[in-house]
Amino acid sequence: MKLLITITFIACVFISFQATDPLKESIKRGEEVYADFCKVCHMPTGEGMKGVFPPLAKADYLLNNREESIKAVKNGQKGEIVVNGATYNGLMAPLGLDDEEVADVMNYILNSWGNSSDKMVTEEEVSKVE
Ligand code: HEC
Repeated sequence: MKLLITITFIACVFISFQATDPLKESIKRGEEVYADFCKVCHMPTGEGMKGVFPPLAKADYLLNNREESIKAVKNGQKGEIVVNGATYNGLMAPLGLDDEEVADVMNYILNSWGNSSDKMVTEEEVSKVE
C-alpha cells in the first residue's frame, strides 16, 4: 500500500511537471506556427530545398547564430548567407508574427529534427532583437 501511494505521488509530480514545462508548451505552440507559416518553404522535416530554401534541420546557421536567426524570423531575411556549406541569396519576407509566436516557432525549430537547445527563447529575448 505504501509503495502504491509512493508511486502515485511520483507519477502526479511527474505529470504536473510535464504539463507546466514552459519550453515544452512553447514548442507545442511553435509547431502550429511552423505548420502555418514556414512549412511551405522549409519543408515539414526542416530540410528546405537546396540552393533555394535553406535547411533548418541540423543547420549550422540556425544553431550557431541564435540572434541572427531570431532576427530573420522576426523581420525577414535577405542577402547572402551560407548554411551547411551551401550559399543562399534569396528573400524571406517578414512573416508578421508577434514576439511570442517568434519565440514559440524558434523553440520548435531549435528542438526538432535532431536539433536540440535547452536554452529557451523567450518573448522578452525576441522583443530585444531589432
Ligand atoms: C516564402 C518562403 C519562406 C517562408 C514561408 C519562410 N522562410 Fe525562412 N527562409 C527562406 C529563405 C529564402 C531564406 C534565406 C534568405 C537569404 O538567402 O538570405 C530563409 C532563411 C531562414 C532562416 C535563416 C537560415 C537558416 O537556415 O537557419 C531561418 C532561421 C528561417 N528562415 C526560419 C523560418 C521560419 C521559422 C519560418 C516561419 C515562421 C520561415 N523561415 C518561413 C524562405 C522562407
